[in-house]
Amino acid sequence: MSENQDKLLSHDYDGIRELDNDLPRWWVWLFYLCIIWSVLYLLYFHVFHIGYLSADEYNKEMDPTYVRVSEADLKFWGVLDEYHSPLFNPAGDMTPRKALLMKGESAFAVVTRESDTTTYVALTDEESIAAGKKIFTQNCVSCHGTFGEGGIGPNLTDDYWLHGAGMTNVTKSVMYGYPSKGMISWRGFLKPEQILQVASYVLTLRGTNPPNPKAPQGDLVAEQ
Ligand code: HEC
Repeated sequence: MSENQDKLLSHDYDGIRELDNDLPRWWVWLFYLCIIWSVLYLLYFHVFHIGYLSADEYNKEMDPTYVRVSEADLKFWGVLDEYHSPLFNPAGDMTPRKALLMKGESAFAVVTRESDTTTYVALTDEESIAAGKKIFTQNCVSCHGTFGEGGIGPNLTDDYWLHGAGMTNVTKSVMYGYPSKGMISWRGFLKPEQILQVASYVLTLRGTNPPNPKAPQGDLVAEQ
């Protein structure tokens, strides 16, 4: 009784009185936790630019092949350069800070299959081919088969190609994909260097005659 008496506030509304209780501890801790969370949130999304913002999500949803400038991957003071959230996709990750650092038009230049006139040259050193094989095993076998014999995707070991043979065509197939046909654009997931490695590896598959090959699709290309 006396303890409650101390806490009793002076006002009285139609006989209803109020006690000046402390906030429950769990509530106060929740409050502190929110403050800590907000600091982490700020660092994650707005300082280090690791996480996806809504604009990034929007761009990706509107056009899965959309990439502004893939090599533009500037990070706060170069810290955390290599770390990305699992959802990271350079396609949508242009932040105002990056745009500012890149000063102007180049930040918004969109490279498309059509505007990409680069001639890609196959890598032939063992290290690159081994790296390419690893990337292929991790990302491509589910559709193109363990040995490139084909499955959901076309056979990559024969002389028939839907989208052209040779390093430049294969690199572009991987880089820009055919999203409406089930082959995604890989430039959002693989670095340019990795795309060259995996494309170079694909070229080494030609004529390997794996078991259970998928029937040829596309045109026979004599000169490869
Ligand atoms: C989800 C399934 C899927 C995955 C995963 C996939 N592809 Fe494909 N890929 C396809 C399909 C389907 C096509 C055929 C597209 C078409 O019909 O135009 C294709 C086409 C290709 C072509 C063009 C073939 C041609 O005949 O011109 C190349 C090269 C290729 N993929 C390489 C790769 C590489 C390298 C990877 C891994 C980084 C990969 N693909 C991952 C489904 C996939």
